[in-house]
Amino acid sequence: MNVSDLLKKLSKENRLAPEEYLYILDNIEKTDLDLLFSLARHARDATYGSKVFMRGLVEFSNYCERDCMYCGIRHSNSNADRYRLDTESIVSSCKTGRSLGYRTFVLQGGEDPTITDDWLISLVKRIKTEIPDCAITLSVGERSRESYKKLYDAGVDRYLLRHETANETLYNKLHPGMSFKNRMNCLFNLKDIGFQVGAGFMTGLPGQTNEDYVRDLVFLEEFRPHMVGIGPFIPHGDTPFKNAEGKGIDITLLLVALTRLILPDSLLPSTTALGSADPKGREKGLLAGANVVMPNITPTENKEKYILYEGKICTGDEASHCRGCIQGRIESTGMSVDMSVGHHKTII
Ligand code: SAM
Ligand code: FES
Repeated sequence: MNVSDLLKKLSKENRLAPEEYLYILDNIEKTDLDLLFSLARHARDATYGSKVFMRGLVEFSNYCERDCMYCGIRHSNSNADRYRLDTESIVSSCKTGRSLGYRTFVLQGGEDPTITDDWLISLVKRIKTEIPDCAITLSVGERSRESYKKLYDAGVDRYLLRHETANETLYNKLHPGMSFKNRMNCLFNLKDIGFQVGAGFMTGLPGQTNEDYVRDLVFLEEFRPHMVGIGPFIPHGDTPFKNAEGKGIDITLLLVALTRLILPDSLLPSTTALGSADPKGREKGLLAGANVVMPNITPTENKEKYILYEGKICTGDEASHCRGCIQGRIESTGMSVDMSVGHHKTII
């Protein structure tokens, strides 16, 4: 067994045995990485072309009732400056985004208990009425199946809920008061209801091992989400993980590329965390097989309060600045910007 043969096998068969993934993670070297990234780009281009789908991200509330050990907006962080955008501001941010060309809006927030189904439904209906031919992605954490179904019926197209780690023991340590089984149940409900579903995980978390990444890859292989967000853990000074060290982006890039080979059709963001951990992180993510970016279109005065980790990029920049900046970065990789709605290939 050698790494390059395993990578070629993965690109043909889109799956490997767990011990084969582990062998790759434990033994990969620079020349194998070049091969892996090139296979990943080839798989992406064969499905979607050498294009990057753009999504406008609105971070509409940083209130959160959860206490995830790593996250800067966790409930116990009394230093977080909390805000919640009203419907008018969110619709107005989306309209600004539309004028910049965006046709997908990602509405993300903490698990804010004041966000009711009725409020979300009327928000989604307004956006869909006032901005024709757009897609809405929601990312507001764990809710009941009934709630997800109502949101789907109201017009939400996609839902992002990272599984965070597929190691149940690690998951439960990172998320006091939460349950891995419920997270998984939410993901299965979302898929069953009909959403395009985004799973995903962090890399470089305290205690996370190559064996854990293997579990993530096997989970993706089996669950087959439409989207997969993979980003490096970056510490935040007001969390229990304030002294943990970020592990850099190499492991993230490797896992993005492996994910592309497992799910050639998936929509894979080159995440903000990648760009925050490395000045060229988003470009490197695209060169490793990613094909989505999610520039921030939150009003600038709120952007700087949605701080999940230190050194988050773009917090002082206007949406229009990011729109131009990201285009230059995308084109520097040889890819081009795609401003279409950008559904998963299986959606007509
Ligand atoms: N509340 C929603 C949820 O749980 O899915 C969405 C918001 S949550 C803040 C968005 C994502 O931020 C999480 O899924 C997590 O992976 C990521 N995140 C939080 N803290 C982070 C950190 N310190 N470093 C990198 N990513 C982080
Ligand atoms: Fe925001 Fe570059 S994308 S400044």
